Amino acid sequence: MSQPILVAEALSSGYGKFQVLFDVSFRVYENEILAVVGPNGSGKSTLLKTVFGLTTIYSGSVIYRGRDITRLPPYVKARIGVAYLPQTDNVFAELTVKENLLMAAYTLEENEARDRIEEVLNLYPVLKERLSYKARSLSGGERQMLALAMTLVRRPDIIMLDEPTANLAPVVARHLLKKISMLRDEMKKTIVLVEQNARAALELGDRALLMVSGRVSYEGPSKSLLQDVELGKRYLGLR
Ligand SMILES: Nc1ncnc2c1ncn2[C@@H]1O[C@H](COP(=O)(O)OP(=O)(O)O)[C@@H](O)[C@H]1O
Ligand SMILES: [Mg+2]
Repeated sequence: MSQPILVAEALSSGYGKFQVLFDVSFRVYENEILAVVGPNGSGKSTLLKTVFGLTTIYSGSVIYRGRDITRLPPYVKARIGVAYLPQTDNVFAELTVKENLLMAAYTLEENEARDRIEEVLNLYPVLKERLSYKARSLSGGERQMLALAMTLVRRPDIIMLDEPTANLAPVVARHLLKKISMLRDEMKKTIVLVEQNARAALELGDRALLMVSGRVSYEGPSKSLLQDVELGKRYLGLR
């Protein structure tokens, strides 16, 4: 297997004094999809936020490409290639698609920005037809696509996605998950995917992390978790 690009070691974190994660360790390998699954409230979102620097970390560490980034602020993490896409409010609703993309590219030099926006529009051609539409008027699927495109403009190496398919119709959700697997296969990105639909996530993922009550209950191949009747039934509603 390839090198781990990100290593979380014994992370304990929460919100102020309210502890949510207990001693959470896991690895993310280069160019894989790590599917993070688990019941509601088990700490999946908190895990992503902790890696990105949006929670209170009591102990433990986050190592990215061999460098301790535990206490770096989110904007620095973003700058060195770590992207985090929150579940909601991930686009500027009152701005047009084009303006959203320009916002995502605002730190870049003009030609560079133009090239990268062109690049992501080729990846998500549906956005090309919507350039002058306000983000608020997009369908749920298009809006997630825009959020992904904005993330990609910054050329991250590792992308953490929090339930990108929430509230999408099944066919739209499948389409989006396919786009996400293309990021791994064609753009060689590394992806941490939190998904409510455990089966879809485990079918897509290379490896999986099962969170239960703020702790890691399983880390390993996705397929093994998918076939683990006991864990699947108990925590993921799989039969
Ligand atoms: N901003 C917050 N402030 C305080 N507690 C929170 C906050 N966000 C989540 N929690 C709590 O953290 C726990 C885990 O939540 P979360 O990480 O959102 O779980 P999941 O994403 O697996 O559904 C829950 O008990 C939730 O109530
Ligand atoms: Mg969540």
